[in-house]
Amino acid sequence: MAAAIIDGRRLAAQVRSECRERVQALVSARITPQLAVVLAGDEPASRIYVQNKLKACEEVGVASTLHALPHDAAEEDVLSLIRALNADPHVHGILVQLPLPPQISAQRVIFTIEATKDVDGFHLYNVGALAAGEPTFAPCTPQGVMRLLDAAAIPIEGQHAVVVGASNIVGKPMAMMLMRRHATVTVCHVKTRDLRAHTLQADILVVAAGRPGLIKADMVRPGGTVIDVGINRLPDGSIVGDVDFAAVATKAGHITPVPGGVGPMTIAMLMLNTVEAAAAQSKFRRTWQCSEEWHAQNADLQKAR
Ligand code: GUN
Repeated sequence: MAAAIIDGRRLAAQVRSECRERVQALVSARITPQLAVVLAGDEPASRIYVQNKLKACEEVGVASTLHALPHDAAEEDVLSLIRALNADPHVHGILVQLPLPPQISAQRVIFTIEATKDVDGFHLYNVGALAAGEPTFAPCTPQGVMRLLDAAAIPIEGQHAVVVGASNIVGKPMAMMLMRRHATVTVCHVKTRDLRAHTLQADILVVAAGRPGLIKADMVRPGGTVIDVGINRLPDGSIVGDVDFAAVATKAGHITPVPGGVGPMTIAMLMLNTVEAAAAQSKFRRTWQCSEEWHAQNADLQKAR
């Protein structure tokens, strides 16, 4: 039987419309959420991602500013830009598009972002909060995957989830989020022996390896849910995921397509994080310390979800 397709485009449009309503409410209270996007260098893929993020801002009514720096920008230039954005009360979210040129330490840049403006959820504070089960800005891609699973009514608690890929952006936070929802989680990576033995166990298989066609039909449990986070451009220009979609779709119970699955959700969740950042900053003074205010603010946001 053919798998049910989980439609990320449709769900992302719903999330954006939810965001638009929340932006309108904030604007009525004289707060226009603003996202600052920092792009260093001229990598074509990064430029396209950034354009799509700016387009989504426009669609939901979030103000955006693009700070484009040349490929040979000094690390200190990026850091001083981040410090200025941290201090600007009109800026609620800061996103630094990765990867950065080699002379710039991504860690140093990300850890300089004020954690309450870190709408990517990459700052150590937010990474730690996620690991500790505390409310936080969660990274957008895995947050989008959780929304997709929930929208498709896929049970998570007690299920065996296998995450392929252990990156800071997707694999690790994905595993944390699934654990927070009481899945049993296996994380596979480039050094994993016998990948198939693990993936065959998966009730939920999330693949974020960046390798086209890595997951074949004989690696998937019949009726399982397959979430493909991969976005790979083939030499002919076509975009494919990490999963052999046509073959796996004959075996899985649910599957996300590429394009049109996880990708649109990532940007929709970025909009949601930006709106939440603006709402939180309008109520509470900025701080990245683990203060009472921060806890109170996030408890409110958590309840609103
Ligand atoms: N590069 C690839 N994915 C991402 C992401 O989610 N956020 C940022 N800032 N850069 C990326």
